[in-house]
Amino acid sequence: MLDNAPPLPPEIARRRTFAIISHPDAGKTTLTEKFLLFGGAIQMAGQVRAKGEARRTRSDFMKLEQERGISVSASAMSFDYRQFRFNLVDTPGHSDFSEDTYRTLTAVDAAIMVIDGAKGVESQTRKLFEVCRLRDLPILTFCNKMDRESRDTFEIIDEIQENLAIDVTPASWPIGVGRDFLGAYDILHDRLDIMDRADRNRVAESIQISGLNDPRLADHVPADLLARLREDLEMARELLPAFDRASFLNGSMTPIWFGSAINSFGVRELMDGIGEYGPPPQPQKTAERQITADEPPVTGFVFKVQANMDPKHRDTGIPSFAPELLQGVRAGDPMKAKHLEKALMQFAEEGAAKVFKPMIGSGFIVGVVGALQFEVLASRIEEEYSLPVRFEGSQFTSARWVTGPREAMDRFVNVNRGHIATDHDGDIVYLTRLKWDIERIERDFPELKLSATKEMMV
Ligand code: G4P
Repeated sequence: MLDNAPPLPPEIARRRTFAIISHPDAGKTTLTEKFLLFGGAIQMAGQVRAKGEARRTRSDFMKLEQERGISVSASAMSFDYRQFRFNLVDTPGHSDFSEDTYRTLTAVDAAIMVIDGAKGVESQTRKLFEVCRLRDLPILTFCNKMDRESRDTFEIIDEIQENLAIDVTPASWPIGVGRDFLGAYDILHDRLDIMDRADRNRVAESIQISGLNDPRLADHVPADLLARLREDLEMARELLPAFDRASFLNGSMTPIWFGSAINSFGVRELMDGIGEYGPPPQPQKTAERQITADEPPVTGFVFKVQANMDPKHRDTGIPSFAPELLQGVRAGDPMKAKHLEKALMQFAEEGAAKVFKPMIGSGFIVGVVGALQFEVLASRIEEEYSLPVRFEGSQFTSARWVTGPREAMDRFVNVNRGHIATDHDGDIVYLTRLKWDIERIERDFPELKLSATKEMMV
């Protein structure tokens, strides 16, 4: 990722642009808030989550932003941390995210994956992780809520390795669990970090240790926990790979920190990790060539686009999301079918939904990631195109893009006409209700590739 590139000017090299991905409730908001706290962007925790009165008034906040040269807005937060400039790009939406979330992930150079120590890898984490993987984004993992009963450390690591097919290397190792959680051993710096339970906003006390045999360990860690720590770390050294920056940067290895965002524990170590190991602004692919961050005309990277833009300005590679909910759509007035088609194509182009035109029959099938998106679409079509529409159940529940050699494609399409549709680019999509169907086709047509997402140039 960084090989052979001439060094970037310091002002560019110190930038770290990243997003936080997680399943709802894992602690993304809390972690974001602690980042802002340690980045000097806010003075008291609780400001990001708090609403109304409790929240600093907007004007105060803007003054603070000006004074400190930070900016906190709905979609990106910039602040300094040590010698680094952090840009934390917010991934919008929570349980009902859309392509916007994915789009955001095209703008970052790295991602932090937050998981709940008791729950492990959850569905939304996995989806977002897959999007990061499409770009081989470096990922730092934060295993949160270690102050609560959580799973065995090896079990958590195994689950990530198996579920997400990525090497995991411990950057820290938790000591004790739940109520007995005491802190963590910082493997990368040979340090002992002790959590302060009394003050949630205080950074952990760090004690420099010279290896696991340092007698000072016993001053801070009870004998049973210390014995367990030594045993665990020995096993970890045997079983788990050591941190390797190149593997981290090419997305094949993730370092994991164990902490408790609410107790400010492990957060600073994670921030240090992004600063020390995270990538500076990376080259971005465009239709014609790669653009590097230090080219004089470059001032930024635009990652949000809207329908009806000049196509020349839309050359960002955006991974297409896998639609998980499919519904038919009809214009309230059947005479307006053509108008509806135009509106749908524009939303498809914008990335607000997937639109499929079945080969047989009339009408369209719309695919989205979250149910709310149907309502949003219906109201946008009505507002922006003065076209009342109705969404209705579809016989299909899954869509797969199909690619392969011409002859096999023709044969496949011919025998599956009732299941075939085209997307807004005219690409062939297979629609079905049964997972079994997909497996059967993969068996019957081994030369074809069925994929749930499609990398598209928009
Ligand atoms: P999200 O943005 O990923 O959805 O998560 P968020 O930060 O809102 O955290 C979800 C819940 O988990 C919150 O509790 C939060 O206080 C709690 N939490 C976050 N980090 C930790 C941690 O390290 N340890 C423990 N024990 N809890 C943590 P809540 O009850 O939903 O909200 P609130 O009552 O705290 O406001």
